[in-house]
Parts: sequence; C-alpha cells; structure tokens
Amino acid sequence: MNNKVLELNEVDYTYFDGTKALSNINIRILKNEKVAIIGPNGSGKTTLLLVASFLYPPTRGSVKLFDNEEEIKDKKVIRKKIGIVFQDPDMQIFNQSVFDEIVFSLLQIGKKEDEAKESTDKLVKLLRLDKVRYKMPHRLSFGEKRKLTIASVIAKEPEILLVDEPTSNLDPKSRREIIEVLKEVSTNSTFLFSTHDLEAAFELSKRIIVMYDGKIVYDGKTEDITKNKETLKRYDLIYE
Ligand SMILES: Nc1ncnc2c1ncn2[C@@H]1O[C@H](COP(=O)(O)OP(=O)(O)O)[C@@H](O)[C@H]1O
Ligand SMILES: [Mg+2]
Repeated sequence: MNNKVLELNEVDYTYFDGTKALSNINIRILKNEKVAIIGPNGSGKTTLLLVASFLYPPTRGSVKLFDNEEEIKDKKVIRKKIGIVFQDPDMQIFNQSVFDEIVFSLLQIGKKEDEAKESTDKLVKLLRLDKVRYKMPHRLSFGEKRKLTIASVIAKEPEILLVDEPTSNLDPKSRREIIEVLKEVSTNSTFLFSTHDLEAAFELSKRIIVMYDGKIVYDGKTEDITKNKETLKRYDLIYE
C-alpha cells in the first residue's frame, strides 16, 4: 500500500518580521515512510516541521492530511494523528515529575488511570528513565528531558511522528539510546525528523529531503545521497 498521508503543496512560510523561511515546498509523505530532513542551520527545517504539523498555517499553499487517500478536515482528528517533539524540551514539559508527565499524556487520550500508569511504566523502561521516574523535570539532564518529551509524545500513539533534531546536544550514549528508541517506535508509524546528524539520518530513514535557504534542493533515496559527496558539500552538510 502506497497511501499518501501528508501532503504539502506549494507551501511558503514567512515570519512576521518578513523572513521567508519556506519557499515553494512540495512534499508527499506515504504511510509508514521514514523521512529525514537535513540542511544547515537556518535552512527552514524547524519551520517545515511546524507547518507540517498544522501548528503554523502556511502563508501560501496548503498542508493536507489523509486517511486512506481521503482528506481529513476535522482539527481534533488532525491533532490526534500528529505528534511533534520540539527541539527544546523545556517548551514541552510542564508536569511536576517524569511519571506525571507521561501519565498526563495518556489520560489526555482517554486512558483510564490504571491503564495509564501501566503504560507509563512501559515507556519509562523503554526510554530508560527508571532512575529518574519521580524526579522533577527541571532537575533532569538534557538527554533525560529529550527522552521524556519523546516518551510523552509517543504515549499518545500518533500515526505521524515529527521530531525536531532528536540527537542534538546529546552525549554519545544518550544519542545511541535515542536512535534505538526512534527506530523501534517508528516501525509502525510515519516518521519525519530534522537533523544535521547525517549518520542518524542514514540510519533512521530511507528517504532524505535536503533543505537549503528555505527550499528543497534534494528529495530522494538516502543511499543515493550518501554516495554523493559533491551534493553534501555544496549544501554545507559536510565540511572538509
Ligand atoms: N520566530 C521567527 N521569527 C523570524 N524569523 C524566524 C523565526 N524562527 C525562525 N526564523 C528564521 O527562519 C529561517 C529558518 O529557520 P528554521 O526553520 O529555524 O531553520 P533550521 O531549523 O533549519 O535551523 C531562518 O532564517 C531563521 O532565522
Ligand atoms: Mg531547527
């Protein structure tokens, strides 16, 4: 089945100060596809994820979500189907403990308390947050915060998971743990993430979109771009 689930057509996004962050973006994402968005700082990756998650309405063009090729228009349904993990965990965490933060997500999607606690135990294990489960989030390390935001978003079992820079600012061990978790949880969902961690992109996705100056300059197979050093250099993805 090659159903499309998300489509951006001729999308522009201009910030209030006049910065044009996205220009004529055309993307079609298929069900269960894993896609890495790579590009240097300021190329528009974060803006693209915010527009693709329906949080920022495009200045021009359209963003559409589909279920069996049929467009979904109900905002509540759209909210439920898309989960986004922001780059900065502090923008996302607001409960008093790690445990409460994850339980809260589960209660939000209508789980009963017992069930929510049980699922939280599983997520705490999956993300290896056992040692800090009753800690206050602001006392966590950056890596633990990142894991917590991933846990509370995947708790809601979104059909489309968007993650902004999952491996940024992490030590090698946390980075590896997060890559493994994302591999596991993305198996049965559509997964879109931004990164300038090329190795993570190669490991987690078969398709890569390269952004440069608000535009898509490459959209294709991961294996093709890995071999293409010239393209990587031209778009500041490697520097030698
Ligand atoms: N809130 C904002 N107001 C104005 N310009 C912004 C804002 N956020 C981002 N930008 C600009 O939009 C462009 C794309 O930014 P961004 O999407 O954050 O890129 P990336 O995630 O690839 O680093 C940059 O030029 C950035 O300075
Ligand atoms: Mg960014």
